[in-house]
Amino acid sequence: MNLGIVGATGLVGKTFLSLLEKEKTFPINELRLFSRSLSPCFVLGRNLSTQSLSPLAFEGLDICFFSAGEEVSRKWAPVAVEKGVIVIDNSSAFRLDSDKLLIVPEVNAHLLSRKAQIISNPNCSTIQLVVALQALEKSFGLQSVQVISLQSISGAGRQALESLKQESLDILQEKTSYKTEKISHAFNCIPSIGSLTKGSFCKEEMKIMSESKKILNRPDLKISAFTVRVPCLNSHSEVVRFSVKKTASLQELEDSLMKYVRVLSPYPHARQADQEKEVFVGRIHKDPCEKNSWWMWIVSDNLLKGASWNGLQIAQELAKIINK
Ligand SMILES: NC(=O)c1ccc[n+]([C@@H]2O[C@H](COP(=O)([O-])OP(=O)(O)OC[C@H]3O[C@@H](n4cnc5c(N)ncnc54)[C@H](OP(=O)(O)O)[C@@H]3O)[C@@H](O)[C@H]2O)c1
Repeated sequence: MNLGIVGATGLVGKTFLSLLEKEKTFPINELRLFSRSLSPCFVLGRNLSTQSLSPLAFEGLDICFFSAGEEVSRKWAPVAVEKGVIVIDNSSAFRLDSDKLLIVPEVNAHLLSRKAQIISNPNCSTIQLVVALQALEKSFGLQSVQVISLQSISGAGRQALESLKQESLDILQEKTSYKTEKISHAFNCIPSIGSLTKGSFCKEEMKIMSESKKILNRPDLKISAFTVRVPCLNSHSEVVRFSVKKTASLQELEDSLMKYVRVLSPYPHARQADQEKEVFVGRIHKDPCEKNSWWMWIVSDNLLKGASWNGLQIAQELAKIINK
C-alpha cells in the first residue's frame, strides 16, 4: 500500500508513525508525510521529509490518514478522493454525514467496503466508550447511558500539552500564582471542552452523544454526556452510569465486557493505560437507585485507541478488502 499521513508532526501523526514502526505487519510500499512546516523524519528505516499539501501530492496513494484538524480535512480530503485515494479522517469534519462511515472496527468494521472514500475516525472519548457499550448492547440491550469524561491534555494537541507542562513548572517554581481567574489547564479541572452554548452542552459532549448513536446504530439510545478537561498528560478516563434491558449479574457483565476490553480489578488508571492499545474497564458495580443500572470506569490512551490505533485498524481492514 502507498500510505500518506497528513499532520505527521502532530501528536496523533507521530503516534501513528511509531505504531507503524511497531506493527510491522501493515504492508507499506511508499510512505508520504505532510505538515505545515517542512521537517525531516526518520521512519521505517527511511529518511523522509514532510511536504506541503497539493493536489499532485496525493497522486498514487492508496490510503491517506488525515490528522491536521477539521479545516484541513474539509479542504483536502475531497481533493485526495478525486485522486482515487481512500481517506481515513481523524477530524470531526465528516463524522455525522449520513453518507460517510464512522468506524470503530470492534463495533462496525462490517460496513467497510471497496467503495469507501472518506471514513471517519470517531472522537477519542467516543471510541473507548462505544467499545465497552457495544458489549453490553449485544448481551443485555442498552436502555440509557450517562457519561462524565475526564480528558487528558494531549487530546487538545501538541501546543496545549506544551503549555500545560510550562504552566505547571511555573506554578511549582512559584513563578506564577496558583490562584487565577483565567481558564488555565495546569492543576485545574475545566468543565467544558470545545465551544459551549449557554445553558446547554459543549461541543465535545454533543460529539460523544451523536457519534455513539451512529456507531452503535441506536438512534433511539438515551445518552447524555458531561466532559471535563483534567491535568493528566495522556489517556482519557470516563465515569459511566448505564441501564440495561435484561437483568444481569456482575459476573455476566464482566464476561460480556471481557470479549472487547480488559477488565481490571479493582480499577485501571490513566497512566497505566498510557501507550497501550486496549480499552480498560473497572469498578463495575450496581447502582442501588434504579433496577438494572450500573456504574463503571473506562480508561484508554486517546492518542492510540482514541486516534491512531483505531485508524490503523481501519487501514488494516481496508488492506484485507483491497488485497482480496
Ligand atoms: N490528540 C488527540 O488525542 C486526538 C484524538 C482524536 C482525534 N484527534 C484529531 O486529530 C487531529 C490532529 O490532532 P493532534 O492532537 O495531532 O494535533 P496537533 O498535535 O496540534 O498536530 C496538528 C498537525 O496538523 C498539521 N497541520 C496543521 N495545519 C496544517 C496544514 N494547513 N497543512 C498541513 N498540515 C497541517 C501540523 O503541522 P505542523 O507541525 O507543521 O504545524 C501538525 O502536524 C485533530 O483534528 C484532532 O481533533 C486528536
